[in-house]
Amino acid sequence: MADQPTAAQPTAKYRADYQAPDFTITDIDLTFDLHDTATRVIAVSQVKQQTQGVTSLELDGDELVLHRLEINGESWEHFEQTESGLILRELPAVFELTIETEINPEANTSLEGLYKSGGGFCTQCEAEGFRRITYYQDRPDVLARFTTKVIADKASFPYLLSNGNKVGSGDLENGRHWVQWQDPFLKPCYLFALVAGDFDVLRDSYKTVSGRDVALEIFVDKGNLDRAEHAMHSLINSMKWDEERFGLEYDLDIYMIVAVDFFNMGAMENKGLNIFNSKFVLANSATATDTDYLGIESVIGHEYFHNWTGNRVTCRDWFQLSLKEGLTVFRDQEFSSDLGSRPVNRIQNVRIMRGPQFAEDRGPMSHPIRPEKVIEMNNFYTLTVYEKGSEVIRMMHTLLGEDGFQAGMKLYFERHDGTAATCDDFVQAMEDASGVDLGQFRLWYSQSGTPVVTVSTAYEADAKRYLVTVKQQTAPTPGQKEKLPLHIPFDIELYDSKGEVIELQCNGERVHHILNVTQSEQTFTFDQVNEKPVISMLREFSAPVVLEYDYSDEELVFLMTHARNEFARWDAGQMLLAKYIRSNVQAVQAGNAVVFPENVVDAFRGALLDEKLDPAFIAEMLTLPSENEVAGWYERVDVDAIHTVLAQIEQILASALEDELSAIYHSLSQSGYSITHDAMAKRSLRNRCLAYLAYTEQGEKLVSAQYGKADNMTDTIAAMSAANEAQLACRETQMADFSSKWSHDGLVMDKWFVLQGKNPAGNSLANVRETMNHPAFSLKNPNRTRSLVASFCANNPVHFHAKDGSGYRFLTEILTALNSSNPQVASRLIEPFLKYRLYDEDRQALMRAELEQLAKLENLARDLFEKVEKALEQ
Ligand code: TRP
Ligand code: ZN
Repeated sequence: MADQPTAAQPTAKYRADYQAPDFTITDIDLTFDLHDTATRVIAVSQVKQQTQGVTSLELDGDELVLHRLEINGESWEHFEQTESGLILRELPAVFELTIETEINPEANTSLEGLYKSGGGFCTQCEAEGFRRITYYQDRPDVLARFTTKVIADKASFPYLLSNGNKVGSGDLENGRHWVQWQDPFLKPCYLFALVAGDFDVLRDSYKTVSGRDVALEIFVDKGNLDRAEHAMHSLINSMKWDEERFGLEYDLDIYMIVAVDFFNMGAMENKGLNIFNSKFVLANSATATDTDYLGIESVIGHEYFHNWTGNRVTCRDWFQLSLKEGLTVFRDQEFSSDLGSRPVNRIQNVRIMRGPQFAEDRGPMSHPIRPEKVIEMNNFYTLTVYEKGSEVIRMMHTLLGEDGFQAGMKLYFERHDGTAATCDDFVQAMEDASGVDLGQFRLWYSQSGTPVVTVSTAYEADAKRYLVTVKQQTAPTPGQKEKLPLHIPFDIELYDSKGEVIELQCNGERVHHILNVTQSEQTFTFDQVNEKPVISMLREFSAPVVLEYDYSDEELVFLMTHARNEFARWDAGQMLLAKYIRSNVQAVQAGNAVVFPENVVDAFRGALLDEKLDPAFIAEMLTLPSENEVAGWYERVDVDAIHTVLAQIEQILASALEDELSAIYHSLSQSGYSITHDAMAKRSLRNRCLAYLAYTEQGEKLVSAQYGKADNMTDTIAAMSAANEAQLACRETQMADFSSKWSHDGLVMDKWFVLQGKNPAGNSLANVRETMNHPAFSLKNPNRTRSLVASFCANNPVHFHAKDGSGYRFLTEILTALNSSNPQVASRLIEPFLKYRLYDEDRQALMRAELEQLAKLENLARDLFEKVEKALEQ
């Protein structure tokens, strides 16, 4: 029967099935004899029985050739090779295991395990890549002491790196040499790393609070030394910040970062030897935008912060991924906020939540931050686990306060340092240290989906009472029909008509501004409210929920100017925009014109002209939600209407505010380039003005002039992006000029590929296909693929969703190719297909047909299998 599961069908793992390992590995001594196509790996492990009487042990292995297997130095016959590894039998309770395997790094295009990037070797072991290096218990709760000896040709690979401290080196015959490393800290194998290559090295040092000197080394491709300084600076800032804000100090004598061009994700926190996508290391004024600089600061911080939250305390099993990722994202967000603008960082993080994370919650892969069921772990490095995971940590921070939260962190490390822990361990530490009851709060870890919080208010003039009724509801998600009420910290503030804050009181007692919403419906009563107030709610996005409240335009304009905190002012602006985007989508669908009233324009004019506001914040105020975020508001998405409405509102604002935009644009021109937050903020507003002005008569002139005069990449790309969005005549010349200047540099060309991917022109897809022939493009490189292909499929909705299905066929072609070469990248690219149910019937049918075609692929990778299957069964 055709649809009976076959032996080859991938199987799911369940969180509930966790079992501690029967054996542990206390030490592993690795030797790598590196060769491009035939690398030999010898692993000598000290193994110890953990469960009395158990004598067999399963080791994971993938794409390995086994050459030798010994127990206590003697060849061992009691084993069996399976699809997924080895089963060893008749084992003693304590033994030394020697395994020699052969692997082919050059043929490894999946970029998991040991592979070649450019001329060098590197590894990526998280989540389950170590099994592509040797047979091992590839699970995070097996913690071992690692020693690693690397042997390679000395001329081609002068640097041989691994975790920990260098303990020996020497020369060998045939021009080869060796270096041995020892990592004194116990670690799971996903934190193992090895790098071999020829690099330029930027060196610095850091003295920790307790006075220890740490050598800092950043390895970049030859010739890129002048692009490593910002990364070094960010690393030093991270080390200092973690000491000051969290009291956490670095623990080895050396910290190395290697930048590689071929990398599936952003970066990896391997103990003492981070491996980074070069996108998050390399920057100078000629090659990198302000966004790149900030991205580097945040990713360098993120990986550094993992040293405590991830490495010193790791995850018991992969279902606990948010234990390290949610917490570390929270820490990197706080780092960026403490160093830069807190409101702007908050706004950008909330945009990610309300856009892509909420969309993920509505799709077939919807999962709680701690998933229950996983087929391919790589599919769970998601916005939900990372970003919503961080929001969950942030809610605990809100409930406990900074001091309570830090007490919780301290207790967490006291209890779990050096071990593999669970999300529950973390919450328990927070609860025990603070005394705050987090019983109901724990539901955030197991319940998926986005809660909708609907608020209604009533003012009783006679009693001077104000009533706030809060309802919460979470729609069913795949595999989770029943939803319970969550503990939602709901941050509010009341204002009188003068904009003064009204103290919150109930029965003569002060009430905290964070309301504990815990039931499906609850009314909060406030006394001594002398006039009908304006309420500001979900301040700082105090919980990852959708807020529904029937604000009048007047109230929103009031909050845009009077709310005490900037986030609330921005959020009011977004709600005002949302009202008019919604009404205009309806209008456009009914064949009517887009209307955007003068008084709403005036509210944005007010923000634009407010000199007390940070320019970067004003730029955020004046940024419309993305087409994708707007799509998330609908059960049935009309990509064309959404595009039309957003484009027209942008144009209406441009022409109505032209004089002000133009004046501000000119007043913000800077002499001399710097990357201080002040300078970046000014560029950000200036370039936001330019993006609007591109739609006016002066657009062509201003944009060309800026492109011609720009002395930094931020201004160059801002000009090109404005020309691209507004389809200015100068677009062609700029694109040609840029490509001729930078085609030797893939990382810089990525910005150009993004513009091609997002090109709103009618022939956009043909153009993307042609761009794939550009010498700087390669489907083998994830950064190139994401820049061009993902920009088109995920961020150019009108053309991707072309009614003739051409965009869909294109994605299937790409997925079919990547399914064999790099399933992890394929699995990220497939996302737009998973949301097919949100579109009209014709488009649904077309997308479904593509999914069905993919399902039939003979060698369908687990990564795609899991998503395709879920999408089709939903
Ligand atoms: N732990 C890494 C981080 O968040 C994520 C990561 C890097 C990763 N490379 C990966 C996850 C490959 C899965 C596969 O910092
Ligand atoms: Zn991480």
